[in-house]
Amino acid sequence: MNPKQLAGEKAVEYVKSGMNVGLGTGSTAYFAIQEIGRRFKNEGLDIRAIATSIESENLAKEWGIPMATFADVDHLDVTIDGADEADPQLNLIKGGGGALLREKIVASATKFYVIVADERKYVPQLGPFGLPVEIIPFAWEETFRQVKALGCMPTRREKDGKIFITDNQNYIFDCDFGLIADAYKLNDQLHSLPGVVETGLFLDKTDVLIIGKNSGELEIHHKKG
Ligand code: 5RP
Repeated sequence: MNPKQLAGEKAVEYVKSGMNVGLGTGSTAYFAIQEIGRRFKNEGLDIRAIATSIESENLAKEWGIPMATFADVDHLDVTIDGADEADPQLNLIKGGGGALLREKIVASATKFYVIVADERKYVPQLGPFGLPVEIIPFAWEETFRQVKALGCMPTRREKDGKIFITDNQNYIFDCDFGLIADAYKLNDQLHSLPGVVETGLFLDKTDVLIIGKNSGELEIHHKKG
């Protein structure tokens, strides 16, 4: 089985009837949403969901999964999302799909945060993927200079030859900081810039990391402590 599918479907074991569920974004979270959809349709799984992107919301709606908003619910019991990198402390880089802001808001409202990934995503130290940073379009050139001054050459993300616009009408800078020695400090530095909306560093949040391997096996890492 595709390692992403293996991880995505395994994660749905954490989803029980009565729960408020966060739905992640990307090609691995896709398999979790599909599995939740199947269980909703065939087994009467009774949940309410909030999606981290318009794309994931549309997929959930295709299955008829009941969708909620934060006007309806004040927490999520479990969220299943993907990652671009995960380190042994279960800190993450996310945002490869451009959904990092909604993903981080959803993560912050979540009691039990499950990350699904294939084995290529598990790295000894965060950084090689590059760090996506969501910024507001106003004065993006100045924000570019300020981010660059922190020690990277940002690239304003494009898609199909056009500027990539997030679901929140913002831009993404993809920032190559090399291996990130102190993710907490870098996160704080980026957050101190007024044009930065959010970073792709998801620190101290993950409860379980489920890795699907090419061999067909699963590797499961739990938060320490
Ligand atoms: C989107 C994300 C995704 O979770 C991340 O890019 C992983 O995607 P995939 O499972 O397709 O590799 O952070 O903003």
